[in-house]
Amino acid sequence: MDALSTAIGLAYIFAAVLFILGLRYLGSPATARRGNLLAAIAMLIAIIVTLLDRQIVGFTWILIAIIIGTVIGSFSARLVKMTAMPQMVGIFNGLGGGASALVALAEFWRLSILSAELPLDFSITTLLSVFIGGLTFTGSMIAFGKLQGLVSGSPITFPLQKVVNALLMVAVVVLGVLIAGFDPSNILFLIVTLLALTLGVMLVIPIGGADMPVVISLLNSFSGLAACAAGFVVQNHILIIAGALVGAAGLILTQIMCKAMNRPLSNVLFGAFGTGDQAAGAVDAGGDKSVKAVDGEEAAMILGYAQSVVVVPGFGMAAAQAQHAVRELSELLQKRGIEVKFAIHPVAGRMPGHMNVLLAEANVPYTLLFDMDDINPEFPHIDVVLVIGANDVINPAARNDTTSPIYGMPILDVDKARHVMIIKRSLNVGFAGIDNPLFYDPKTLMYFGSAKEKVQELVAEIKKL
Ligand code: TAP
Repeated sequence: MDALSTAIGLAYIFAAVLFILGLRYLGSPATARRGNLLAAIAMLIAIIVTLLDRQIVGFTWILIAIIIGTVIGSFSARLVKMTAMPQMVGIFNGLGGGASALVALAEFWRLSILSAELPLDFSITTLLSVFIGGLTFTGSMIAFGKLQGLVSGSPITFPLQKVVNALLMVAVVVLGVLIAGFDPSNILFLIVTLLALTLGVMLVIPIGGADMPVVISLLNSFSGLAACAAGFVVQNHILIIAGALVGAAGLILTQIMCKAMNRPLSNVLFGAFGTGDQAAGAVDAGGDKSVKAVDGEEAAMILGYAQSVVVVPGFGMAAAQAQHAVRELSELLQKRGIEVKFAIHPVAGRMPGHMNVLLAEANVPYTLLFDMDDINPEFPHIDVVLVIGANDVINPAARNDTTSPIYGMPILDVDKARHVMIIKRSLNVGFAGIDNPLFYDPKTLMYFGSAKEKVQELVAEIKKL
């Protein structure tokens, strides 16, 4: 091994360590920026070192790709709205998977021309890269389309769908064995690629739009696995390590999301669960049960004279983009000497960290944000819980009603506080499509209206106190 190869190897190890540290730091809001920076530096090192590799034939195409990627990346990072982040992540995962598939396809093409017999490990890794990468590409495009409203958010199902999917899988396995064991034919390889692309579509269309964040997290993991396999194909160690890290992180996140929803992954993938956001809210769950409604003046009196307030943000706060108004309200309450905390449920909203990201964007100090397990024991001592556009994550049926579809899902125990005030537009259901007994609890006050408008009204009324 010459000096350059040794230096490249060492630089890759250094980048790998930075990637791992970056992931570690991303685990807490306090260190997340540092984590992001470390991971970005690691990626820069990995790219520079790879460009030094003497196997590169020419730099022209690489430069063109870097320029196009940089322009698209910087524009989309600036233009994308915070609420459109899941689909942006989705489309980027898809492109990552597609890139890995293309690398494997090109490498297979190149080597199969040079030799009629390919090493078994090479055939297996190229097949894996093309299969997982291709599936990730089209699956992510459908997930993007569903979240962007370009494809129907409702589950798209047809008779014998699962049988068709199973047959497609069997065809991929049979062709894979043929290619790896007997005939490294380009035509067969192309057919596997097409089957993978088809499977990506077929696996994602039956899943409801509102479950797309879980699917995107899973596809993120797949894109990592495809990159890892591509790393074996082109013998690049950092690609193998980075791909494996993405694969593992995506799987862990998927598992966390499923656990927080108390739904097995199989239910997300095959259960056609949820109403989809277009349909959410279409059902009036109110019936003839009565609720106590308050106006802005009453709501301000209750909040303004409390000693402790816990704010529970949910999907409605994101939908209304009320985070800045919420920050203003929390500062106003703090100025009045009221203790204010934010309770964050792991699956509040529609994507991992949805509430944390929005509140950070509005400059709410992360020291005020408390995870479910930390804040739950405090609720019995809290004067007022102000729920802003949350529903399922505070539904006591998850704790008390064994027949409820969300029974067993961990929730924020807001019903244990002295008073609960809920801002939402109606008694309509949330993502899970079920009624919430908390609305009819005698200690609950409903403050009806759109989140941003109502919080702004609260701010104005509290200023008058
Ligand atoms: P949801 O239970 O979905 O309830 C949101 C509520 O917000 C609705 O009931 C709606 O009631 C209200 N709302 C909508 N627009 C509003 C607006 N402009 N102003 C005020 N309120 C508005 O939300 P949640 O409590 O955050 O729970 C999240 C749900 O999503 C959970 O079931 C979770 O399992 C699921 N989920 C989460 C994720 C992740 S990773 N976060 C991923 C997939 C699924 P009105 O129509 O009456 O206003």
